[in-house]
Amino acid sequence: MNQRPRRNRKSANIREMVAETNLKKQDLIYPLFIVDGINKKIPIKSMPNCFRWTIDLLLKEIEVCGKLGINNFVLFPAVENHHKDKKATYSYSSKNFYLKAIQTIKSMFPEFTIMSDVAMDPYSTDGHDGLVINGNIDNDQSLEILCKMALAQAEAGIDIIGPSDMMDGRVGAIREILDENQFTNTSIMSYTAKYASAFYGPFRDALDSAPKHGDKKTYQMDPRNKSESLIEAELDELEGADVLMVKPALSYLDVIQTIKKNSNLPVSAYNVSGEYAMVHAAAEKGWLDYNQTFIEVLTSIKRAGADIILTYFAKDFAKG
Ligand code: PBG
Repeated sequence: MNQRPRRNRKSANIREMVAETNLKKQDLIYPLFIVDGINKKIPIKSMPNCFRWTIDLLLKEIEVCGKLGINNFVLFPAVENHHKDKKATYSYSSKNFYLKAIQTIKSMFPEFTIMSDVAMDPYSTDGHDGLVINGNIDNDQSLEILCKMALAQAEAGIDIIGPSDMMDGRVGAIREILDENQFTNTSIMSYTAKYASAFYGPFRDALDSAPKHGDKKTYQMDPRNKSESLIEAELDELEGADVLMVKPALSYLDVIQTIKKNSNLPVSAYNVSGEYAMVHAAAEKGWLDYNQTFIEVLTSIKRAGADIILTYFAKDFAKG
C-alpha cells in the first residue's frame, strides 16, 4: 500500500495540521430573546439555558458573552399581547422596548455586532410574518410595514438588518428605504432560503409567535426544493443583500453548499431552535454526549460552506 490515509490521523497534532474545517468563535452569532420590564430572566421550556431577558439583565449577559469571545448577537423580541395588532404597528413605534434595547446595547457595547429580526410575527395578532388580508398574506402591503420596521431599527443603531419574512422583493425595498435615509452603511443579512420547517417549534414557544391560523407555506420555501434556493439567492444578491442565509441548517447542508458554490457573497446558516432542542433532549436522557454532539453539528455546518453560523450553542462553544 503506497497510500495509507491513517498516517494523517495518527496523532492529535497531525490531525490538527490536516484539519480542513476551522470553526471559530468569530464565526458565530448568538441569538438572544428580549422581553419588556426589569429584572426578569424567564426560562424557555423547550430551549434549555435560553431565556427571555429584560434589558438590565441582558446587558450583563452580553458582557459575559463578550468576555468569552462572543461578539455578535441577533435579538428577538417577545412582545406582550396588548401591543399586538393586525398591522404590527408597535414594531416601528418609538415606544417599542426592542428598539430602545438596541439603542442601549449599541451605546454600551459599540464594538459588538447587533443584528435584528424583520418580520411581523412577534407583533401581529395573526402571528404571520406578513399582513393577512382575507386569509391571504398580501406581499406588497407587507413590504411597506417591513420597510418601516427596518428603518426604525436602523435609526436605533442596528448593525445588520435580518429580514426573516420571505416576502418577495423585501431586500430591495429595505435597501432602498435605508439608502434614502442615509443608512447606506447598515447591512442586510437576508434569510434567503428559509424553509417552512417543523424545527422552528421551540422558537415560536419562546416568542409566543405561532401563526393563529394556517401555516407559513405560501411564503417560506418547500423543503423538497433546492434549485429554487438559487432563484432566491440571485434575487437577494441583485436587490442588495450583504450576506445570504440558509435556514434551518442541519437538514439543509446541501442547500448551504449549493448557495456557497453559486454566489460570491458570504453565506450564513441558522442552526435553529429545534436543532438545539434535539441535542439537549437526547443529552438529558443520556443518549448523546452534549459537547461532542453540538461541536460536530456546528462543524458540519461550517464544512458544508457556511461562513457564519447563528446558533444557540454559541455560548457553550465559547466556554470550550
Ligand atoms: C420569524 C422567525 C422564526 C425564526 C426566526 N425568525 C420563526 C418562524 O419563521 O416561524 C426561527 C428561529 C428558530 O427556530 O430558532 N420570522
